[in-house]
Order: sequence, then C-alpha cells, then structure tokens
Amino acid sequence: MKDKIRTLLAKVEAFDAGSLEEAEAFRVKMLSKKGAIPALFQDFKSVDPAGRKEIGKQLNALKQTASDKVNAIKKRLEAEAESRKQTTQGPDMSTPANFSPIGSRHPLSVVRNRINRIFQNIGFVISEGPEIEDDWHNFSALNFPEEHPARDMQDTFFVEKNPDIALRTHTSSVQVRVMESQQPPIRTISPGRVFRNEAISARAHCIFHQVEGLYIDKGVSFADMKQCLLYFAREMFGEKTQIRLRPSFFPFTEPSAEMDVSCNICGGPGCPICKYSGWIEVMGCGMVDPNVLDNCGIDSKKYSGYAFGMGIERIAMNIYQIKDLRMFFENDLRFLRQFESAW
Ligand code: PHE
Repeated sequence: MKDKIRTLLAKVEAFDAGSLEEAEAFRVKMLSKKGAIPALFQDFKSVDPAGRKEIGKQLNALKQTASDKVNAIKKRLEAEAESRKQTTQGPDMSTPANFSPIGSRHPLSVVRNRINRIFQNIGFVISEGPEIEDDWHNFSALNFPEEHPARDMQDTFFVEKNPDIALRTHTSSVQVRVMESQQPPIRTISPGRVFRNEAISARAHCIFHQVEGLYIDKGVSFADMKQCLLYFAREMFGEKTQIRLRPSFFPFTEPSAEMDVSCNICGGPGCPICKYSGWIEVMGCGMVDPNVLDNCGIDSKKYSGYAFGMGIERIAMNIYQIKDLRMFFENDLRFLRQFESAW
C-alpha cells in the first residue's frame, strides 16, 4: 500500500500538461470515481488497523496534492489561453498597410525649387520681400523716371495713389531692399508672386511668378553674366543647351538683353514649340544701371553687377509642354496629380 502511494505521488509530482485536455485526462485517471486514488481508498478498507492512521494521512495527502496540482495546471493553461486571445485581438500585424494618399507639389513650386537650387549651388542666397510695394522700391529706385512711358511696360494694380502703393510688378523690388540694406558682394535671387493688369489668356495672367537674380561685386562684367546664365540654362534645360542674348531695354539695366535658349524639343531645326525658330525666350537680363546702384547706396564707381529675371510659368510651360497658362491657377486635380513624382 505504502509503495503504491509513493509511486502515485511521484507520478503526480512529475506530471505536467501542455493542454487543458491533457490535464483533464490526468484528473480522470487519478481522481475520478474509477481513478487510481479512489481505488486506493477502496484498498484502504483492508488495511491493518495498526497502520491505518499513518496510511490514511498519506492517502489524504496524495489526494490533496493531486487535486492541487491539476487545478494549478488548469489555471495556468487558462491564463495562457486568455493572454494569447488578447494579443490576437490587438492590432493585426499581418493586415496590409493603410496607404494615405500622397499629395503632390504644384508644378510652379517644382520649377521654382529647381531654379532656386541651381543658383544656390553657386552661392546665391534667397531673399524675399512684400507683395504690396511703394513706388520707390518697385519703380523709382530702379530708374523708372517719373511719368516715363517705361512704367506702362508693366501695367500696375494700384492699391493707393499719391503716394503710390501698388502690387509689385516684378521682384526687382526685393533686390532694391537687399541693396539698401547690405553692401557688396551681393549674390541673391528673389522668387515670388507678381501682379500685372493684363487680360487673362492662354499666354498671360494677372498673377504670375518670377525668380529674379542680382550679382554685385568689384569688376563684375557682362561676360560673367553670360557664363552664369549659360550654367543656369544647361542645368535647367540639359547640357547641350545653347544660349543667345538679344539686345533689349529695361530702365534698370544697361546694356540690357533678352536671353533665349536653344529649343530643347527639336534641338535647333525648328518645331511648333519654338515656332520654327529653334529658340525659346526665357529671361531678361543686363548690367545693373549705375543709377540704380547709387539710388540704393552702393558706390557705382567701385562696384558693378548684373541682374536677370524670369517668369516661372513660362519655363514650366516649356518643360512640361503645357499649352495654357491658366492650368496653373485652376487647381484641377486631374492636372495637379500628373506632378506626383516631381519634387
Ligand atoms: N524685372 C524684369 C521684368 O519683370 C526682368 C529683369 C530683371 C530684366 C533683371 C533685366 C534684369 O520683366
């Protein structure tokens, strides 16, 4: 009897279960009516009265140990199952990601950023200024004489008359502010929105965007300007691009020129894009008129410089082959989504 108890106790102590079913089977085998422990209680009846007390104690202890063990195992397995349930009810890491739609930059921003980077790479810094300007910064400091017909070149939206306050017609006004506040060397570009009272059409708008540039130092020449603009043209339109400068007129530059680049579509022979000329007009430029330097507190005997200015819309129309400038202002998603990969 004692041996039987010892063997069963060893079995109970060694037992462990990997599943609730296994634990239950063990309980049935040991503790159920027909199980091994109740069977020992049957045998107990035939035990010699002298040994009963001790064996009875051992038998009770065996029963207790077995049922404690089975209960503990069941409890543990249930807790494990519960925690497994919780982790599977949490975020399901295997579901496909929820993609948020990616926005796209406006094509004018894309082109402006490219222009900015090209000049920043050779040491130009970006300067910005107000869109509502006084007459001095937009016209007078830039050598537009009072009542001079040159002011008609840029049909102006006036906010107030006498003294004149207007929406800036070009970002040259920003460069006047830069020259007034710092001495050469100056290398700056001013990107920004400008306003002109023009009828809206496929090729013109009353609001458009410019990047203007200014370089002032000792001994700056027209050749320096030409080289800088050639560098720009090749970075912007491709390394085979040629430039040509045609004489022009601006009140604030002397001499002044209009810069064309070789047509990047046909490469020269002529096509509908360049109107069969092989060239595309991109910007105005010239040597800063000494009067402008003096107006802004820079000694024109000591310093010289060049300036240039281009319309972002025109360049974007050329690069992306956009036929109607109004597309830039309509915010039609079918148009804008085509620039999703551009930055
Ligand atoms: N400010 C001129 C414009 O708006 C562009 C320009 C800038 C021309 C600098 C020459 C030099 O058209």
